[in-house]
Amino acid sequence: MKNIEPSSWRLLLRLLIFLIVLVSGLLVAIVFSVIFPELYADKFQALQVKAGWPMKKQDQKPANRSNPRVSSSILPVDSLQDELILYGKDLIANTSKYLGPKGSVRQISNGMNCQNCHLEAGTKIMGNNYLAVYSTYPKFRARSAGTETIIKRISDCFERSLNGRKPDSASKEMKAMVSYMKWVGKDVQKGKTPEGSGLNKLAYLDRAADPKTGRILYKEKCAVCHGAKGEGIMQPDQKSFVYPPLWGSRSYNDGAGLYRNSSFAGFVKDNMPFGANYQNQILTDEQAWDLAAFVNSQPRPHKDQALDWKNISQKPIDFPFGPYSDAYTENQHKYGPFKPIAATRINK
Ligand code: HEC
Ligand code: HEC
Repeated sequence: MKNIEPSSWRLLLRLLIFLIVLVSGLLVAIVFSVIFPELYADKFQALQVKAGWPMKKQDQKPANRSNPRVSSSILPVDSLQDELILYGKDLIANTSKYLGPKGSVRQISNGMNCQNCHLEAGTKIMGNNYLAVYSTYPKFRARSAGTETIIKRISDCFERSLNGRKPDSASKEMKAMVSYMKWVGKDVQKGKTPEGSGLNKLAYLDRAADPKTGRILYKEKCAVCHGAKGEGIMQPDQKSFVYPPLWGSRSYNDGAGLYRNSSFAGFVKDNMPFGANYQNQILTDEQAWDLAAFVNSQPRPHKDQALDWKNISQKPIDFPFGPYSDAYTENQHKYGPFKPIAATRINK
């Protein structure tokens, strides 16, 4: 065997140490990449929020965005104004905790949360979001024949969708909800309605929507969460719902937006069964219309709407209470077929 010079030994030793350092460096890098991506993602999201996410221009188009969410953990909280925004978000997500039948602030609503219908605290694309609220209010609404502020519009949902009473317009709660909506819509230009805001509008069917088919579909696809009698399922503390009711005494009343079958069908098409979204719809248009017909033919609280729609010719085609400016029945205005009615209108 050839004698190895001491200098070669030193060289070998150095090489060995170099290799050990390299391998342990790699190991550390791998461990870091497993632990840290989430931390980095959070920071990244926070930066996105500071930069106006989720309302950036390219994000306003449904086509190139995944489900946007505004999570309170990434809201910037560095002033009293920010705290008001956060409280507003919490009021939208957990309305009942503060304002439901066992609410900690006041007891003025039915146990539902705004978020039950304005999904992901009013930020989900085609999930009845608030993107266009700050940019389009105050606006004229034919239902009240007047100019409505954001406060008036929020009050409407309290009195109809939450079958309750409106909070005082000067209350901290009202201010907080308005501040939150302003924050959600802060990057939308005044007067603009971004794509993906509000609700889907489904095409009218050639036939009337059918509650009988709707009943079968309901049992199959909805009852597991919303209950066999549409009663929903409450949290163990009985303060709010895990699965909100679709009819009965704790549901929205017959003056609410969802009581119009076009709104109901548009909402469920893009959002139900829970987990569906506009890019991943589960129901067909026909199923959505038939489900609307069934759910909205079940009993629910009544709201006196005598003062609504002073100009009856402006009633929406699917507004289910007469009198109308045309000769179609209440039944056809509720279930359709809508195409013949639409043909008589200039403003479809
Ligand atoms: C049962 C479902 C439901 C619940 C619960 C509900 N809303 Fe609504 N809300 C609707 C529907 C449907 C519309 C759209 C109505 C329409 O287009 O005619 C709407 C519209 C609105 C609008 C106007 C949006 C726009 O772009 O014009 C605001 C603001 C609003 N709701 C606030 C609230 C607040 C605040 C709460 C909780 C106190 C709430 N809503 C609870 C169903 C609901
Ligand atoms: C896996 C459970 C689940 C299924 C199945 C499901 N939903 Fe829902 N639904 C929910 C939850 C949860 C909410 C409230 C969302 C929130 O608060 O974030 C909701 C909300 C709603 C709302 C608005 C709130 C209300 O109570 O009026 C309607 C309308 C609705 N669902 C209709 C349907 C219909 C129709 C079906 C069947 C096609 C269906 N859902 C299937 C879980 C479900």
